[in-house]
Amino acid sequence: MKYGHFSKDSLEYIITKPETPYPWINYLTNDAYCSIISQCAGGYSFYRDCRTNRVTRWHPEDYHLDRSGKYIFVRENKKAYSLTYQPLRVKPSHYVCHHGLGYTSIDAVNNGLKSNVTYFVPEKDHCEVWIATLTNQTKKIKKLEVFPYVEFLIGDYHEELRYRNIMNLYNLVKFDKKEKAIFAKKTAKWQGMNIQPFSSQIFFASSLKVDGACTQKEAFLGRYNSEEKPDAVLKENGFKNFPLCSGEDGIGSFKHTLTLKPGETKEFTVVLGQTEKMSDIKEILKNYKKVSYAKAELRKTEKIWQDRILDNIEIKTPDKDFDTMTNVWLKYQTYICNLWSRSPSFFHEGSGGRGYRDSCQDSEAIVSINPELTKQKIFKIASLIRRDGTSAPGWSETDGPHKFLPNKDHQIWLTTTVAAYVKETGDKSILSVKLSYLKDRWIKGWKIDSSWKGGAKEDGKGTLLEHIEANLTFCFNDVGEKGFPKIGHADWNDAIDAAGIKHKGESVWLAQALVRSLRILAELCDFIDDKKKKNKYLKMADVMDERVNKKGWDGDWYVRGFDDNGQVYGTKKDKEGKIYLNAQSWAVLAGIAKDDRLKKVLASVDKYLNGPHGLALFAPAYSSWVKRLGRISMFSEGTKENAAVFCHAATFMAVAYAMSGKGDKAYEAVKRIMPNKQENMELYRTEPYVFAEYLVGPQNPYRYGEGAFTWITGTAGWNFMAATEWILGVRREFNGLRIDPSIPRSWKKCFVRRPFRGSVYAIEIQNPKGKQSGVKKITVDGEKIEGNVLPIFADKKTHKVIVTLG
Ligand code: GLC
Repeated sequence: MKYGHFSKDSLEYIITKPETPYPWINYLTNDAYCSIISQCAGGYSFYRDCRTNRVTRWHPEDYHLDRSGKYIFVRENKKAYSLTYQPLRVKPSHYVCHHGLGYTSIDAVNNGLKSNVTYFVPEKDHCEVWIATLTNQTKKIKKLEVFPYVEFLIGDYHEELRYRNIMNLYNLVKFDKKEKAIFAKKTAKWQGMNIQPFSSQIFFASSLKVDGACTQKEAFLGRYNSEEKPDAVLKENGFKNFPLCSGEDGIGSFKHTLTLKPGETKEFTVVLGQTEKMSDIKEILKNYKKVSYAKAELRKTEKIWQDRILDNIEIKTPDKDFDTMTNVWLKYQTYICNLWSRSPSFFHEGSGGRGYRDSCQDSEAIVSINPELTKQKIFKIASLIRRDGTSAPGWSETDGPHKFLPNKDHQIWLTTTVAAYVKETGDKSILSVKLSYLKDRWIKGWKIDSSWKGGAKEDGKGTLLEHIEANLTFCFNDVGEKGFPKIGHADWNDAIDAAGIKHKGESVWLAQALVRSLRILAELCDFIDDKKKKNKYLKMADVMDERVNKKGWDGDWYVRGFDDNGQVYGTKKDKEGKIYLNAQSWAVLAGIAKDDRLKKVLASVDKYLNGPHGLALFAPAYSSWVKRLGRISMFSEGTKENAAVFCHAATFMAVAYAMSGKGDKAYEAVKRIMPNKQENMELYRTEPYVFAEYLVGPQNPYRYGEGAFTWITGTAGWNFMAATEWILGVRREFNGLRIDPSIPRSWKKCFVRRPFRGSVYAIEIQNPKGKQSGVKKITVDGEKIEGNVLPIFADKKTHKVIVTLG
């Protein structure tokens, strides 16, 4: 590939050209502190929540500029460069960036100085550490001035964007002589009228002897300059000591002097972080100013990430790219989504918090590799459910449950996550855990109680099972004239945001998703032997299924919904937005499309939505604003929800294909959106190691195939499930592990290593006849078994499974 490649073991993506088409980034993170970093060390950091506790600056145009960042400038004689390509952009004679699991390591050679800076976030401490190694490759003594540099944001990012001139007035950045560190905070924390003490402290320090500290941005950069031309670095004696910054833009920077003999190597560390207690900060500074300590923590961090990623499901297929994604990078991306949901990236605005729908899917997807994480998430998400069955749209670690109007689909998601957890672990006791209901100012999730005072409270308790029952029951009853669930402010598709604002519009997709969740809930009730409930939910599912087939069928596909005036959309009669992918894929996922209709649905998807860059979200794109539908029609054609190849939705369809036994199609649906299958990187542009939210769609006049909004997308989790559970077909059930592959005909042999309920299943899938699906025979440890569900051994042993398709 033009800009880089995977390492041999696939654990690193190695970037060899610094000017990639977009910044290609990595997330260095523990569960409280996160540092985002590009191949040129651009990026920003935050603590606990990316909106309310932004540590360093990020500008909305940084996906283009790739600045600001985490920089170390060097000046020797009259030459100056940065150890990373940004921000000075002096061409190094050698430059390689390794994005690894939990670290990013950048090698460069500038003016005969070989350097490596390795950035990571240790597992326990609320900070990031940069370990720098410098080697003099010349025959002359080098006298270097070294300047580590960051620009602080401090506090709430949204307030900063809106009130830039005012927010600075709260800044207080100081060099502390005793700790030899720079401390930054705001005099108070402003969030609207909610003013709180700024209870934590940002800190920045280096292990080198401090010869000067500058905390004022303009003093470092010079008038009208940016990081690209800082006076402090480019001018002789340009660095001035300014140990105090009060009420203006604050930075952290130091001046160090270093001498390197020919061949000599020196190492130092830089640490940046934010936390509450001064005693913790002192401890962190003391520890990480020791290079040996920092290196040991780096090794620990690498090991933790490798164990998380490698020590679980592993696949081997004839497609190495598919394996690389499934075994390493999809898991890693799914972890990042679980940690930070949909907010911080190089593209997103970073509004903070975690969404309900997104978190349900992320935590379902990770259950096969980290059920404990799923469990914690389930409790957190369930705490957002109200007694009436509605759900708050998400939460923020610093601000509590979200207070805005939720989309109408939230209710359907948690059931499948809970079922996945129970199937994975066999732990049915989770269903009877008593949890609080949420009481806030929302009535039935739609109207605001104007008499409500104060924040969220507890509203009595119910079991987890009761919580999810309430969720689905609300959705079942909250229907419009035709009997489909109302779409309200939107459903999965955030951008169909005007079809139901009068609270009449209905969503056929949501009806389908509800059917799927009700059927899964019925299975759960069956598992705990509650036949009454099982039958009740099956009946409700059947009622809705029938409605979809009666009123939602359009002759060759399912329609998408009805607007506030009862007018249908996603139908043959529409000139634009005729056929929507989700209304087809979910008809399959829910078991609604059967026999002839199933055939028609699959054929229509292929005919109208498929293309060389994957499956479009719908077709054709809207060419102008459709008032009755909303923002979906306002994005320029082929971008985002206006008929892009929306990878999350394309993956739903991959699963639908696999469920229908169409292995070739399932694989094709995934392959076309795989980041490491993209050949023309000048077109695709985004990282080749993580999935994008979407590829620009076919109706765009010149960008069809361009990747957009990488990393934080439900695509990651669903693709991991599609690959392992549906294409390779190794699927958890209440009573064992189902083997039901749907693979391309050309795959003659594949392997899956699957730890499950205390044993490891070493599964070999043989496909001598080139089938796409259909298990003919299974042997376990040499013995033939009936059916295709592997028994639970729970014996800590490895069992050899041979599956023959035929
Ligand atoms: C984004 C959101 C996701 C939503 C999708 C479609 O990916 O994170 O929740 O379903 O857009 O609007």
